[in-house]
Amino acid sequence: MTNPDLTLAAETASPLGALHGEPLYLRRGGTSLLIDFSTGEPAMLHFGADLGPALPDLSLLGDPVPHSALDVPVTLGLIPQASSGWRGRPGLRGHRNGEAFSARLRVVNVERSGGEDCSAVITQADAEAGVTVRTEIRIHDGGLLQLRHRLDNDGDGSYSLDELAAVLPVGRAATEILDLTGRWCRESHPQRLPLRQGTWVRSGRHGRTGHDSSLLLAAGTPGFGNRHGQVWAVHLGWSGNHESFVDAAADGRTVIGASELLGTGEITLAASASYETPWLFAAYSAAGLDGISDAFYAWFRGRPHHPGARSGKARPVVLNVWEAVYFDHRLPVLLELADAAARLGVERYVLDDGWFRGRRSDHAGLGDWYVDDDLWPAGLTPLIDAVTGHGMEFGLWVEPEMINEDSDLARNHPDWIAGPAPRTAGGSRLPLQWRHQQVLDLVNPEAWQYIFDRLDALLRANNIAYLKWDQNRDLTEMGHAGRPSVHAQTRAVYRLLDELRKAHPGVEIESCSSGGGRVDLGILERTDRVWGSDCNDALERQTIQRWTGMVVPPELVGSHIGPTTSHTTARTHDLSFRAITAMFGHFGLEWDVRGLGDSERAELARAIALFKEYRPLLHSGRMVRADEPDPALRLHGVVSHDGGEALYALVSVATSFAEVPGRISLPGLLPEAGYRVEAVYPAPEDRRAFLQTAPPAWLAGGVEATGRFLAESGLPMPVLNPEHGLLLAVRRVTTADPAAEPAATSGHPARSS
Ligand code: GLA
Repeated sequence: MTNPDLTLAAETASPLGALHGEPLYLRRGGTSLLIDFSTGEPAMLHFGADLGPALPDLSLLGDPVPHSALDVPVTLGLIPQASSGWRGRPGLRGHRNGEAFSARLRVVNVERSGGEDCSAVITQADAEAGVTVRTEIRIHDGGLLQLRHRLDNDGDGSYSLDELAAVLPVGRAATEILDLTGRWCRESHPQRLPLRQGTWVRSGRHGRTGHDSSLLLAAGTPGFGNRHGQVWAVHLGWSGNHESFVDAAADGRTVIGASELLGTGEITLAASASYETPWLFAAYSAAGLDGISDAFYAWFRGRPHHPGARSGKARPVVLNVWEAVYFDHRLPVLLELADAAARLGVERYVLDDGWFRGRRSDHAGLGDWYVDDDLWPAGLTPLIDAVTGHGMEFGLWVEPEMINEDSDLARNHPDWIAGPAPRTAGGSRLPLQWRHQQVLDLVNPEAWQYIFDRLDALLRANNIAYLKWDQNRDLTEMGHAGRPSVHAQTRAVYRLLDELRKAHPGVEIESCSSGGGRVDLGILERTDRVWGSDCNDALERQTIQRWTGMVVPPELVGSHIGPTTSHTTARTHDLSFRAITAMFGHFGLEWDVRGLGDSERAELARAIALFKEYRPLLHSGRMVRADEPDPALRLHGVVSHDGGEALYALVSVATSFAEVPGRISLPGLLPEAGYRVEAVYPAPEDRRAFLQTAPPAWLAGGVEATGRFLAESGLPMPVLNPEHGLLLAVRRVTTADPAAEPAATSGHPARSS
């Protein structure tokens, strides 16, 4: 059952690392990874701060052997394994009918890419177990590390894989864990807990990424914040079941990692077959969570297909009709809405759910991707022509992975509905319905092809620039031909998106999943933005966007001004708070703007113009978030990479304990440069936003100060009413503080408190 070539390679390699002797030391963007091969296994000695240009002396790093333990130091391998004495969470779990359950992986090859390309491919094999694992590692410019494994079954028989995890070591200084939780309309809320001995696991069994998924799992030094403390963080780029974990072993070592969560019997590899893990993304920061965001943002923005980079055009201001009309698709109303949107400065008009055959409510129609003739006797063309005639792009909602039992598709192909048992003509048990819908089995090639052909035909027949691609239910009891199939379904969805993008390279795609139920770097590899939440309440959005934005830059997070009274929380907010909130994202409207009064329409047009003015900055700069001590207040901003300009939002999310907010820091500017700070929105005299007898003196006309002063002292801020915001524009006016002493450089240019 073993592959003779591999046996040979492994034996040659085994004289313990002699062949691969040189350790692997990857360093870039302030981060480094050190892997030693001297035990014959890739031993992860360090992931975190850059240790400097010289390869560290590894003899300094060897652990002692404690009492009552294995007689050799335990290696933390790239795939932690019991054969090396690892008693934490194993990196690989698999077997051949219960045998070959414990692999002894040893390095057979290391490919190092020199120069700028900070990457390596490490291959390990266990000839006896008949498995080879090939690991790709790369550290990108901004310090983001990417890692994935591929396992090949080299044996004769099949190999059952239960888990293949990607892990990295965390520094001993880490004592706290932070991750994100959520539910529908409340995605990406943080939770913190102490890092103690044992394993902290976040499991996602939704079959999709999940509203509660931990977009970011971080471990850090005591009290690490937005702009201080050491942080190690990971994200798994995967839209199916998954686990992320921090594993603090009894030997004192801690690893952080993630894996795809495989169903029982889901992955059985035939001889010569392979399994590839999703990419693990990992970042280290010595300057708090903002440093983690820097690493992710740099990676996103460096991709050739990053929106903006790909099309060379700014992210268009959107009007999505959902909260304006829901299923009420009357052409005159939609035309009127297009008209009103165009006059306000909207650049993309998105027709949401309700346009296709039989879709008069959310009970029926999914799967029948034909324009409804009764509703649209002349097709979508009259609307598309009006929209494009106004100079706007046209976007369309689809939900290709789903099927209503009440649809022609389900009636014609009952066996295309995914479920726990094969769907034979008589009909076996189906999963419970969710929003009256089931999941289309895209692992079935015919079903996949049908959906591809329908979407392809729609895109060919209509001038559609954008698809809002929705996915509105968990994949419960997901199966194909009687076997668990979340993995295969997720891959099939990825392939569908990939093939459609190839066929229609100009079309942008949004990943929506009842709001933010599918926000991950796997889906974002093949889509152009995510819908952060179905909740357009600005107060909720402040938290959702802040934490989604830890990983995903604002140009990729859809963020709309909703109706005055939120449809999902019944809270009422002024336009200024809703607009200031939406600006720190891919800005848009989701509101019936036909009936606005003159002053509200004028204010909205001004807010849209303001967003357009700052859009280049907002969608390219560094995100900074102050470590604001008053829980009622939040300060975030975007600072251009050259430190030349910034836009900050001070937001009050509750009533403060203090009479006045005090001086609030504007972090992230160049300490020595002089800046002009101006309040841009709302006007200082706006009585809706502020409650004070007199505003701070500087507010009316603006003020000049150094970046150091703005960060270290901060400016006195007006008394904001709760659930209001203030937008501050900052522009550099001098490159250096003329009064500065030559040696007065700060070690903490961006410290905020
Ligand atoms: C989901 C989406 C919404 C909207 C509806 C349409 O809930 O998240 O934005 O598109 O579907 O049915």
